Amino acid sequence: MNSVQIRAALPGDLPGILQIYNEAVLETTATYDERPQTMEQRALWFAHHQEGHWPVLVAASPGGPVLGWSSLFQFHDRAGYRFTAQNSVYVAARHRGCGLGTRLLGPLVEAARARGLRAILALIDAENAPSIRLHQRLGFEQVGLLRQVGFKFGRWLDVACFERVLPVPAPASPSLASVPATP
Ligand SMILES: CC(C)(COP(=O)(O)OP(=O)(O)OC[C@H]1O[C@@H](n2cnc3c(N)ncnc32)[C@H](O)[C@@H]1OP(=O)(O)O)[C@@H](O)C(=O)NCCC(=O)NCCS
Repeated sequence: MNSVQIRAALPGDLPGILQIYNEAVLETTATYDERPQTMEQRALWFAHHQEGHWPVLVAASPGGPVLGWSSLFQFHDRAGYRFTAQNSVYVAARHRGCGLGTRLLGPLVEAARARGLRAILALIDAENAPSIRLHQRLGFEQVGLLRQVGFKFGRWLDVACFERVLPVPAPASPSLASVPATP
């Protein structure tokens, strides 16, 4: 684990990212996708992140396989939501519980701050104790509960809404010119 680094994802990481995601699709309620994604879908996802300069990070040793990944993407495409993003974080099953989730989420929060975002949302299956613990550890707070909005593996599922509010961004960015300095 010592040689594992957190770095920006490259196109060559996509098969590893896809494999980790599809493992969660098939085995868990961490995602409410029910069918594994294809490589084409994942490549499109990556292209959208690159176009919008949204971060995709991976945990990997130099030359080694992807052990986990995290990403940020716009929460909503309506203009007034432009300072809010939603995050994702996935670690390969056999590498969970070793701190990789924590290492993947921390830099994502810093990337959000550097981008001038005001809020990060994490929509977490309410039974997903590791993810809830991980987000709490990184300063996310539960702000709501969506009851019975999911259905997977023959069960209705609740989603816990977690949020991390970031400091008001500095007004240096032209896109923030109209944002008040104090809430
Ligand atoms: C959620 C997930 C990303 C966490 O990654 P991880 O590498 O296992 O997390 P870490 O080892 O960094 O641990 C983070 C915190 O969760 C806690 N945790 C880890 N596994 C846990 C478990 N099974 N039950 C309860 N808490 C757990 C750790 O103790 C740690 O808290 P602490 O620092 O207060 O001790 C990982 O479990 C995962 O990929 N799960 C499947 C996909 C998923 O749920 N993604 C999130 C979708 S919202």
